[in-house]
Amino acid sequence: MRSWSRWSWRCSPALEAWVEEARRRAAEEAVRAVGNGDVVGLGSGRTVVYAVEQLARRVKTENLKVSCIPSSYQILLEALKVGLPTSSLYEHPELDITLDGADEVDAELNLTKGGGGALTREKILASNSKRYLVIVDGRKLVERLGSTKPIPLEVLPFAAPALKRRLERVFGRAELREGSGKLGPVLTDNGNFILDVYTGPLENPWEVEERMRKLPGVLEVGLFLGMAHEVYVGFKEGVKKLSRG
Ligand code: A5P
Repeated sequence: MRSWSRWSWRCSPALEAWVEEARRRAAEEAVRAVGNGDVVGLGSGRTVVYAVEQLARRVKTENLKVSCIPSSYQILLEALKVGLPTSSLYEHPELDITLDGADEVDAELNLTKGGGGALTREKILASNSKRYLVIVDGRKLVERLGSTKPIPLEVLPFAAPALKRRLERVFGRAELREGSGKLGPVLTDNGNFILDVYTGPLENPWEVEERMRKLPGVLEVGLFLGMAHEVYVGFKEGVKKLSRG
């Protein structure tokens, strides 16, 4: 089994200045996997913005033809800003490739996602893509999912208080995500709430995902298990590509 321990020295907080450059370089490498004519899913978050910029550069310099399906208004606006052609699952229900970020990556390339609240659409794009490529910086590598971030759940607003109670009984503290730049709860692009569940390190994320998903009112769980085909990890020294299997 793969272990991150030999890279952990590269991920100390003192090295944070390299993070943006590491993300940009990892995105540049991942974007090279996009082929001419591809339908490209775009995840959300800050790292995907670098992928959007690099893809737009390839479209301009190589005359690459792509059609992009964004997972959020955030990334739709970024794609439009740089002139990427956008589309939807109505035109293209199957995607060639999806480029996405992540909040945590374990040694089996399982992911925690949803820091930006776009987990449901991201999972839909990922699960309908022939290839799902993830771009992160080295600080996102963890031994166990849940150790550095809570597990986000997109939930029906009607069910949120009851779900909070049930989740707290089983998994640990669950917080309704609050907006910044808006008072009150975050509303997702689908008009729902996010509950962040502080599980701590998960021994069996598969079991946790299944149990959370079964609760009525839970629309999606921010655990992406067995989905990523490749993860591009940006370090200070360069980019490492990890493949599943
Ligand atoms: C969006 O909801 C998330 O799943 C992001 O992909 C994740 O939070 C990573 O975001 P950053 O690239 O901004 O760290």
